[in-house]
Amino acid sequence: MWRQRADVVVVGTGVAGLAAALAAHRQGRTVVLLSKAEQTATFYAQGGIAVVLPDTDDSVDAHVADTIVAGAGLCDPVAVRSIVADGYHAVRELVGAGAVFDESTPGRWALTREGGHSRRRIVHAGGDATGAEVQRALNHAATSLDVRRDHLALEVLVDDGAVAGVLVRSADGLGVIHAPAVILATGGLGHLYQATTNPDGSTGDGVALALWAGLPAADIEFIQFHPTMLYTADAGGRRPLITEALRGEGATLIDRHGVSVTAGVHPMGDLAPRDVVAAAIEARLTATGDDCVYLDARTVPHLAARFPTVTAACLAAGIDPAHQPIPVIPGAHYSCGGVVTDVDGRTALPGLFAAGEVARTGMHGANRLASNSLLEGLVVGGRAGRAAAGHAAVAGPARVVTPDAPVRPVLPRAELQAMMTRHASVVRSGAGLRDAIDRFAEARPRTLVTRRDVEDAALTAVAATVAEAALARTETRGCHHRADFPDTDPAQAFSSRRGALGLTPAGC
Ligand code: SIN
Repeated sequence: MWRQRADVVVVGTGVAGLAAALAAHRQGRTVVLLSKAEQTATFYAQGGIAVVLPDTDDSVDAHVADTIVAGAGLCDPVAVRSIVADGYHAVRELVGAGAVFDESTPGRWALTREGGHSRRRIVHAGGDATGAEVQRALNHAATSLDVRRDHLALEVLVDDGAVAGVLVRSADGLGVIHAPAVILATGGLGHLYQATTNPDGSTGDGVALALWAGLPAADIEFIQFHPTMLYTADAGGRRPLITEALRGEGATLIDRHGVSVTAGVHPMGDLAPRDVVAAAIEARLTATGDDCVYLDARTVPHLAARFPTVTAACLAAGIDPAHQPIPVIPGAHYSCGGVVTDVDGRTALPGLFAAGEVARTGMHGANRLASNSLLEGLVVGGRAGRAAAGHAAVAGPARVVTPDAPVRPVLPRAELQAMMTRHASVVRSGAGLRDAIDRFAEARPRTLVTRRDVEDAALTAVAATVAEAALARTETRGCHHRADFPDTDPAQAFSSRRGALGLTPAGC
């Protein structure tokens, strides 16, 4: 077993991970970054970063209010305000690191609008390639950091009630990085489902690592389905996102007959919060028996120049969005809940931090507002890096521990994804969720050797936790819709907390 020491280990290299690592490094700490995959979810983000700019008609109050409305009663207003208020500073820091945002006139950032926002407040880059620009700038800023590619985190090591490091698998086999502070920044869990906008590595690893370390996940039933994922018959895995900013620029959602999908559903129409639009699409598909609806972007000015990523994805699928409506369906997109943290990324386990999609700060509640995710990743990532650096300085070097290779319950991925897609997607029911939970309980123990093993174990742990949380929430709220409980129940206006339920493997 190889061994190494660091002050801070960051797991994940998207916006939150890199912001955290850079912040910890600036505090003079030794930082190791673990990366298991080529692409991050950050890279694929299209719409932009929601941020309140000075000298506009926007305000922190307005952004906070929009975020809280989207969050359907479960946001923590103090957390929302704290994160939103730091947004402009964090974006300026990113610009200092070299990020370039689109401008409407020289020196003035162009602002777009997305669902649930009462103002134009989304800054973007490369038209619809914001994430790629954020990733490029942060990668460049992090060139001198110790980034370990193809390194998988298997377990957060705990010694005497505090973090002692991470058990890692690399090409050199099992190893331990002994460190008093670990930051989980592993992104999301879209591959719980057969089709998702998320990159291949989004398998819920960070939530699973926290559950295995005995920490709870909160609001984990709230998985946001983006209304417009590109539809092509029989395609699974990562599917291209068709950014909501297209609707902000005038594109409309229609069915096969050209009838609006959202008319009469919500005062904001096609720019209603995502759960509303996704549910309206599901209802139309159920009513018509069609496989998809359409986003008509033919009237969007300068379509190819403003939306080059979407245009390229459509053309690659044989669809010319300038001349024909784009076939779309809702797709698993974002986990609103996750590992419970404060607004500095601190968990209840001393030395363990989490930031970005993996974390539940209270920012998103029951439904995330569009383009609040890069914002949260930047702000909380930076804060978690500073907090972890401070913790490491006080805690001192971690003691040497010698863990075994973990054995975890694992279900075959295809079966798990089929169960989740059938029973825990846009609309859920108690009967379906119970079927899924029964099946998840039959997971068989396996020693985690390959990347596939580790991811499948994480998916199994997280699927069971999501299904249990979704079953327990006997109401419809935010992006959690129950066919058997179609109304919001004011008595359930509280955040759910769930430990590693359903994880006792069959045969153990
Ligand atoms: C989009 O561009 O529609 C997605 C942005 C987001 O998920 O915040």
